[in-house]
Amino acid sequence: MKNLIKIEDLNKEEILEILNLAKKIKNNPNNFLDQLKGKSLATLFFQPSTRTRISSSLAMQKLGGDVVDLYESKKEIGMSKEESFEDTIRVIGDYVDLICLRHNFEEAPFVAEKNTNAKIINCGNGKDQHPTQALLDLFTIWEELRRLENLNVSIVGGLKNSRSAHSFLIALSFFDNNKIKLISPKELKMPKKYLKSLKKTLNIMESEDLEIDEEDVVYMCGLTSFDAEKEVRVGYQLNKERARKLKESTIILNPLPRIDEIEKEIDKIPNAKYFQQSKNGLFVRMAIFMKMLEN
Ligand code: CP
Repeated sequence: MKNLIKIEDLNKEEILEILNLAKKIKNNPNNFLDQLKGKSLATLFFQPSTRTRISSSLAMQKLGGDVVDLYESKKEIGMSKEESFEDTIRVIGDYVDLICLRHNFEEAPFVAEKNTNAKIINCGNGKDQHPTQALLDLFTIWEELRRLENLNVSIVGGLKNSRSAHSFLIALSFFDNNKIKLISPKELKMPKKYLKSLKKTLNIMESEDLEIDEEDVVYMCGLTSFDAEKEVRVGYQLNKERARKLKESTIILNPLPRIDEIEKEIDKIPNAKYFQQSKNGLFVRMAIFMKMLEN
């Protein structure tokens, strides 16, 4: 693996290798303490992050590697007014083996990979993709339901602007016989370009109505106040009334942060797996780093 910018940079075998390794790490974290001793990571976040940045930083530290965290920049393109993004990446890439990059601009990781020999992991590029999120989403499904095929999945929210939804949908298309319902307001539908990126044909239907219907997975993406008014958002909220219709085995996922797409009361029901999902990010990112930096 050179870089991980889109989920399509991986093949099915590589995805399964990462998930298997993440499971081994989760079961026995102490067995992996010095696996990346001597390696180094820069987390370079031009947009805020709680989960991705902290779990990436800790993942490298738990593997014995060194980390520099850069996240205070308010600049749009570079770390300082005078220096270009290209030069910033080139300089940092000469110090470290791996750069975890989050940026407002979709092109940023593609520009970055042209300007450094360090490996690049896209941790969110604008509204485009978030491949490590998709891997931890798959891991959580695989751990909870013991399969990644024959799934009935609803992906709900502002699908047009959700990079997590884009990568998750493509990730599901690596596996057979998955049935997907894309639920969003009409003006926030899943962009066609992500439907064109699917690896295998998925059975996809689109709807503007959130109706629970025998799902194995309900993936809630949320709608920001920029996406839609409160009156529209309530139509896409998983509340107690809707949750009553879930199967006992249905799992509810959410890349987080939560806005108001899942009522807090839902956190208590056994179907709610979004905090486990976020916790799994640590083990999955440890596995990704090991795969990317293995000799
Ligand atoms: N899911 C996710 O990307 O969360 P953060 O923005 O906190 O990293």
